[in-house]
Amino acid sequence: MRLVSFWGKGGVGKTTCSASLAAGLSEEGMDVLLLTTDPTPTLSDVLGFPLGPEPSRVEGFRGLWAAELSENAVIEMWKERFGEEVFEVASSFLPVERDFIDYVARAPGIADQFMLYLLYEYWSADGYDLIIWDTPASSGSIRLLRLEEEFYSHMNDAVRMYLRLKGFLERIRRGKRDPLELIEEWRSIAQGIMDMLSSDSHRLILVSIPERISYLLTMRMRKELEEMGIDVWALVVNRLFRGCGCDKLSRMVEIHERVLEEFKASFDHVRVIENADYEPVGREGLLRFYEFLRELV
Ligand SMILES: Nc1ncnc2c1ncn2[C@@H]1O[C@H](COP(=O)(O)OP(=O)(O)OP(=O)(O)O)[C@@H](O)[C@H]1O
Ligand SMILES: [Mg+2]
Repeated sequence: MRLVSFWGKGGVGKTTCSASLAAGLSEEGMDVLLLTTDPTPTLSDVLGFPLGPEPSRVEGFRGLWAAELSENAVIEMWKERFGEEVFEVASSFLPVERDFIDYVARAPGIADQFMLYLLYEYWSADGYDLIIWDTPASSGSIRLLRLEEEFYSHMNDAVRMYLRLKGFLERIRRGKRDPLELIEEWRSIAQGIMDMLSSDSHRLILVSIPERISYLLTMRMRKELEEMGIDVWALVVNRLFRGCGCDKLSRMVEIHERVLEEFKASFDHVRVIENADYEPVGREGLLRFYEFLRELV
């Protein structure tokens, strides 16, 4: 196990579970990198420690490093890593100026996609015992993975066709680098990312609350992930209310019981977390919450 990720609908407890598991495992002696790719991250608040786009050691925790990959920082990092190459490819068949790099860097999806690349780099560098990835709310991230898969083959075909049409290929090959080779390189990175996510060393955890809409969305997410060859390791059913003896909540308790049974019928590995009577934030709250997550991965 080298990567654990938490996926689910908005507000179900992804960040809480990520931070708590990271805190717990780091307390047990692991060097853990906790990353959030949520564009509106709350990880700093949950940890009670300010974070930036580069991993920093989280004070008050044993072996914990964390980063919030904010959109602007990520766009700058993208320009540094891919800007020049993108310009090279584009200018080989389009009359573009250098400001094209800025234009592409701000295109929808680029920042999110590059976050996957950064995650992949940390994973490849193998500098931590474990990476824990707090994903943004639900299906947006899945759509992005699909994009990752399709984008480069599309790019490759488009460029190839264009170059053939223009009879440019030979001329460009005499130039600096073959743009098709560059695209092939990008594609192999995209493939590496998909391989990382579908490998046995990745444990993907779905998080849900025990309510109908969240149940339906969870089932859809599992299907979409599995269609991409990414298996779900476990499901966390979070914020369960059990009988409390008061009338007001008893209807809610019934709903929770019913949906929980449906989840149990659909998943082999289900972990139940009750609604806590404390706020699972900061060192104390997160380590207390870790009791629910022990031996989940
Ligand atoms: N079992 C629990 N008991 C009590 N409070 C909880 C529990 N799990 C999560 N919370 C609280 O619920 C709120 C939402 O949790 P969290 O931010 O972890 O969800 P999220 O899935 O990351 O949300 P988002 O999709 O907005 O990123 C937080 O205030 C958190 O403290
Ligand atoms: Mg969150």
